[in-house]
Amino acid sequence: MKTKKLPIILAIESSCDESAASVITPDPKSGHLLVLANIISSQIDIHKKYGGVVPEIAAREHVLNMLPVVNEALLKAKINPKDLTAIAVTKGPGLITSLIAGIETARTLAFAWNKPIIEINHIEGHIYSNFINPKTPINFPALILTVSGGHTTLLLMNKAGKIKIIGETRDDAAGEAYDKAAKMMDLGYPGGPIISKLAAEHGSKPTKIMLPRPMLNSPNFDFSFSGLKTALLYELKKDKAWKKRIPEYCAEYQQAIIDILIHKTLKAALKFQVKTVMLAGGVSANQALRAQMSEAVENKSKQVNFLIPEHEYTTDNAAMIAAAAFYKLKRQRLSNFKKLRVDASLQLK
Ligand code: KG4
Ligand code: ZN
Repeated sequence: MKTKKLPIILAIESSCDESAASVITPDPKSGHLLVLANIISSQIDIHKKYGGVVPEIAAREHVLNMLPVVNEALLKAKINPKDLTAIAVTKGPGLITSLIAGIETARTLAFAWNKPIIEINHIEGHIYSNFINPKTPINFPALILTVSGGHTTLLLMNKAGKIKIIGETRDDAAGEAYDKAAKMMDLGYPGGPIISKLAAEHGSKPTKIMLPRPMLNSPNFDFSFSGLKTALLYELKKDKAWKKRIPEYCAEYQQAIIDILIHKTLKAALKFQVKTVMLAGGVSANQALRAQMSEAVENKSKQVNFLIPEHEYTTDNAAMIAAAAFYKLKRQRLSNFKKLRVDASLQLK
């Protein structure tokens, strides 16, 4: 009897400042996704000195790094290109010049190796980071809070593949709020890990600083973080001794972000009677957010499962793009390299 060939997917991600490639395949027995390789070449050290990502530099670095990263992923996975089922690639949203580097790499390899393409939306990728080694079953409907440097979005998933946006930020993303506050206080880039470390130094002691929680009680599931950033700026301007109180400012600022994220997520979980709540995106690496959200969801209902991606799949990576592609492949959403274009729309298919 002929055994069915299991899919093997190579994925490429280059939407911001990480050149990444990953190879995944399902486990023949359990069907769970096995990450055979997850290679990331980060440009953080290069962009650090500018206080943020410089698109032109990012694009040039991607051009240099993309093929070596793909090669390393295939070598680590011990996979010959001819055995690949498809090549997945992030088609948007992100920095256009960065995206093009990944897209052109995927297009060239698909042509050279005669493989189909699977186009993946970056946010969709973050969502599926939760589908790699999930600690609890993912029951539907599921609610996903995607919080990264570019996005703060609440999504409802009625089954794998059926995704609807129910709320998003009207201005800055949560990660951007961290990055901009860190820049304001001259703490370095990226701001999230630095502010969260300083906030932890302050610990759970009360703070004398009071920052607003914008749109906390708005009658929708949208977010706004730019007012919080401005409020911080005014507080710093008023306080001549702010440099001596940086951990306290970080603690209050981070708590304001977390309060807003938790409040809106719980409200949506209740309204849509979801069975699973998931976090995704770079900000989901935040320990305080992970702990407080987990406790809040658990307190609300013992029947709701709470999932967070493993740490290595929180910030940009290609394993999450491969995971999303695996489910798209199941639904036969294959494309051709000739059709591949940058596209920021969230395909809800
Ligand atoms: O998902 P990601 O790598 O890229 C985008 O798609 O934007 O997220 C990067 C963002 C940055 O804004 C960074 O400051 C934030 O995630 N971040 C964190 C933490 N680690 C990364 N924010 C808060 N706490 C962290 N531990
Ligand atoms: Zn991302």
